[in-house]
Amino acid sequence: MNIKVEKLIKNYKKKDSSDIEVLKNIDFEIPVGHKIALTGPSGVGKSTFIHILGLMDRPTSGKVYIGDVDCFANDDKYLCNMRKKNIGFIFQFHYLMPDFTVLENILLPVWSEKNIKFEQAKNILEKVGLFHRQNHFPNELSGGEQQRAALARALINNPKLIFADEPTGNLDRITGLEVEKLLFKSSSELGSTLVLVTHNDELASKTDNIIKMIDGEIA
Ligand SMILES: Nc1ncnc2c1ncn2[C@@H]1O[C@H](COP(=O)(O)OP(=O)(O)O)[C@@H](O)[C@H]1O
Ligand SMILES: [Mg+2]
Repeated sequence: MNIKVEKLIKNYKKKDSSDIEVLKNIDFEIPVGHKIALTGPSGVGKSTFIHILGLMDRPTSGKVYIGDVDCFANDDKYLCNMRKKNIGFIFQFHYLMPDFTVLENILLPVWSEKNIKFEQAKNILEKVGLFHRQNHFPNELSGGEQQRAALARALINNPKLIFADEPTGNLDRITGLEVEKLLFKSSSELGSTLVLVTHNDELASKTDNIIKMIDGEIA
């Protein structure tokens, strides 16, 4: 799906109730199936931006279109359904649920559906090389395995949009490369649009377009 951002502004309130402007009037468009790297120093608003694109947070003003839908014109329930149907999100930390097995974690986003997608989950586990780990708990996995499980969880709904916020930031170089490769391969196979926040130039250079953020704006 394509994404279009118009006049996006996000402010946070400071303790003294003055505003901090984090995103300053961003206009931006990503064609269907493109892979975008979002780069820039710490604190410029990359996570804030990608969280809004992933419909996890609302902007102060401005619009985000996914396909033809003006997403934030809708209520939270709609956003939640949109996320469930179309969006996969990977964070720097895996956020797997410690008391659930790998297989259960991967099924969590689709647990409420009538037919639980066991087969699909197992196929994805195979793809990310964790089939043999499906009944293990997250704390029994290495960092790279945990992040591959998080990737599998993001892929369970065949998302048309994949967002990744420094997904390899906590991994060593080799392990990070494995996760990156899987991320690229999976989004190519699904024909998904990928937005990836990264400080890794090597990774960024493999995308269709590098977007640099400076101080709440796109450079
Ligand atoms: N919930 C929040 N409340 C107040 N300020 C926030 C909040 N989240 C982020 N910020 C501020 O917004 C700015 C951008 O943060 P962030 O989007 O995390 O940047 P980046 O991901 O580029 O490092 C920072 O100055 C940060 O302190
Ligand atoms: Mg960040």
